[in-house]
Amino acid sequence: MGPESVPVHWMVAEDESFKRIVQQGTALAESAWAHSVHVEVAGLKPDRWYWYRFTAGGATSPVGRTRTFPAPGALPAKLSFAFASCQKYEVGYYTAYEHMAREDLDLVVHLGDYIYEKGDSKSEAVRPHGQAEVLELDDYRKRYAIYKSDPALQAMHAAAPWVVTWDDHEVNNNYAGAVSEDPTVDRAAFLRRRAAGYRAYYEHLPLRRSALPAGPDMLLYRRLEFGRLASFNVLDTRQYRTDQPLGDGFQPPSPVLLDPHGTILGEQQRKWLLDGLDHSPATWNVLAQQVMMARNEEVPGAERAYHMDKWTGYEYERQAVLRHLRERAIANPVVITGDIHTNWANELGPDADRPDDAAVAVEFVGTSISSGGDEAKPGLDAAVVRAENPWVKFFNDERGYVRCEVTPEAWRADYRTVAYVSRPGAPVRTAASFVVNSGRPILEPA
Ligand SMILES: [Fe+2]
Repeated sequence: MGPESVPVHWMVAEDESFKRIVQQGTALAESAWAHSVHVEVAGLKPDRWYWYRFTAGGATSPVGRTRTFPAPGALPAKLSFAFASCQKYEVGYYTAYEHMAREDLDLVVHLGDYIYEKGDSKSEAVRPHGQAEVLELDDYRKRYAIYKSDPALQAMHAAAPWVVTWDDHEVNNNYAGAVSEDPTVDRAAFLRRRAAGYRAYYEHLPLRRSALPAGPDMLLYRRLEFGRLASFNVLDTRQYRTDQPLGDGFQPPSPVLLDPHGTILGEQQRKWLLDGLDHSPATWNVLAQQVMMARNEEVPGAERAYHMDKWTGYEYERQAVLRHLRERAIANPVVITGDIHTNWANELGPDADRPDDAAVAVEFVGTSISSGGDEAKPGLDAAVVRAENPWVKFFNDERGYVRCEVTPEAWRADYRTVAYVSRPGAPVRTAASFVVNSGRPILEPA
């Protein structure tokens, strides 16, 4: 499109055929924001479905469906949602989203790696996009355009509201704050790249004005309350973290990891999170975030090694957050996680070195939509994972998403998987289901 701004008319209705239009207006799509519009509609009724569409230049968009949350103070009987992450376009089809769209969901939570910034991985590509690594704003925009051309992804966006947060690949693999993956890139140059990645993310995803980026800064962490049933603390573990202390990979335990200056949240976000948990009225307190909080040890035998890009690279803060959950008796903390392209179900205690350490929270780690292709972790054996990490109650290396059904009494998680993504049409199955009863942070097979 050219530099001109384009008026876009929007409509919100109580019915799918737009007989009962409740609000409408015009937003200006500007070239400075990739001709995106972000409409915030006030004054809708709580806890009900709406339909919306756009018209511009004589064209009418498909119809999208969304819903409002229950009123503050209301205790809804149920929330059904799914969470997903890691959708590398060229390595697999988005079959998981086709199945997700057939579920009856109130909400989708996306935990990052919505795009991947690297050049086409030709050897693994089943649908190559042919583009090089993205560095500049226009390239990030093109990458979103490629990903968003996928009909299953489009249909899922149209089927339910999304709550999104990013991980690393929306900018650069394994970056930390102002530090690039590539040590030869200086901070100023990397912050210019981060500004481009953040801006394109804002443009292409359903975010409010509160997230409007300013240069390399964008306020993405926020809290959403589904009545008194569930409070979602949507976290950003990339923008404010200190550099991985010992590189990005697995490292043996080191006193460096207990340095109180190491942080994955940043001081402000940590205070905001802990304070919000202390005052939460919710039955379920969700940490919707990127990287695994549980320790994962993948080496058989006595040798120990933990991953530096995950919470275990920031062990001081990991323990501090988990201790806070225990000391303040935070109601039903549930961590939901992406990043690792495999499914895990974990019980979380503050001190993983003590076998009698009681769990204070549970963590559901969802696999990738497509990243990794058909075999994401060949060689990582479920029996080894279980033996090395007694707090891990389930491990699976298929693609898919996690469906959650939340009531005042219990949280049920179903690991929905597809056996292949290298060609379309894989059926979906439930690889495992767990239930957590309110007041008891233990994973019980459903
Ligand atoms: Fe990923």
